[in-house]
Amino acid sequence: MTSAKSQQLIFTNDIAQAIDSWAAKTLPSRIFIIADSNTARLCLPIISKNSLAVSSAEQIVIPAGEEHKTLDTLASIWDSLCTRGATRSAAVINLGGGVVTDMGGFAAATFKRGIRFINIPTTLLAAVDAAVGGKTGIDFNGLKNEIGAFCNAEAVIISTRFFSTLPQSEFLSGYAEMLKHSLLSGNDAYARLTEKSPAEFSEQELLELLKESVLVKKRIVEEDPTEKGLRKALNLGHTPGHAFESWALANGKPVPHGYAVAWGLVVDLVLSHLKLGFSSDSLRNVTSLVENTYGRLLFDCKDYPQLIDYMRHDKKNAGDGTIAFTLLRKPGDVDVSCTATPEEISTALDIFRDLLHI
Ligand SMILES: NC(=O)c1ccc[n+]([C@@H]2O[C@H](COP(=O)([O-])OP(=O)(O)OC[C@H]3O[C@@H](n4cnc5c(N)ncnc54)[C@H](O)[C@@H]3O)[C@@H](O)[C@H]2O)c1
Repeated sequence: MTSAKSQQLIFTNDIAQAIDSWAAKTLPSRIFIIADSNTARLCLPIISKNSLAVSSAEQIVIPAGEEHKTLDTLASIWDSLCTRGATRSAAVINLGGGVVTDMGGFAAATFKRGIRFINIPTTLLAAVDAAVGGKTGIDFNGLKNEIGAFCNAEAVIISTRFFSTLPQSEFLSGYAEMLKHSLLSGNDAYARLTEKSPAEFSEQELLELLKESVLVKKRIVEEDPTEKGLRKALNLGHTPGHAFESWALANGKPVPHGYAVAWGLVVDLVLSHLKLGFSSDSLRNVTSLVENTYGRLLFDCKDYPQLIDYMRHDKKNAGDGTIAFTLLRKPGDVDVSCTATPEEISTALDIFRDLLHI
């Protein structure tokens, strides 16, 4: 299911006003708000006191966490919509992180063959990534995002008002995606993003940076909505990042997804330097930001075969045994069709460990 309609992105810290004007324009017969147990407690009060649409909306609260991004939770959302008599003229507001926007989006996309929905992301990761771009779905049979559909939210209302209650590791996970977008954009976003440490940006400054960052993703997704080519640019950092995440989990020391992506960005930039001439100055800048913000992941050369094996099993590979990478010639100049041999990856991991003093 690919929605042809493009997605309206609204960047504002006056969230209630944005919701009410969307509701006044689109006149849904009823509004259902899907939130998880945390966002119902921490984020819903921020918008409900000033928004007419939200104060009269009906709530569907699901348990928080990736372990609940399942068919059972999805069925419970469908069941709530059914038993409360939602019709095709109803609309859904997804208020939460990527779990809520992915699963609530899929619930709306499939209920009665599709009802309208908007996303209000409450984590930085959802704001910069998950809530935008039309990918919806659930985990299934132990596989992430195994069942889903491409379906655009009618609007995404993006605000920095929710982030003060976010645990720091959740905030930094989203920040890694902003770093990735800044490297893909090729303008001076990277310099501005690294001017201060992440916690030093005000709500308004962060909203401006977020806007630029989300527009990078929007532009790429609009050119390639179903991931046939250019959208692979968004995989920068993710082949080694997923390998670090899986390796750390298997070795009993799990790391947040965004931290693994940040380290993965450094590996991809080392490969970019070796294979495409990405500048060593830019590589050093990114490395020191990543080291100062995310610390280090401790591993040594005995771990390389396991890490490379995880990269080999990445679902983005072509299936012919080669390992696919998205690399950069320079910020903004992306090659989405690179491959690297195990020897090249081992060399990149050696340089990565040197750069991060591991
Ligand atoms: N669709 C896409 O393109 C896309 C892209 C990236 C990630 N994702 C998906 O997004 C999910 C990860 O997103 P996430 O990191 O937002 O996870 P999440 O939705 O699980 O949120 C993380 C935690 O933060 C809590 N939380 C949310 N907002 C909060 C707030 N303002 N204050 C305090 N706590 C808050 C949540 O309840 C949860 O416990 C994964 O399932 C991933 O597959 C989807």
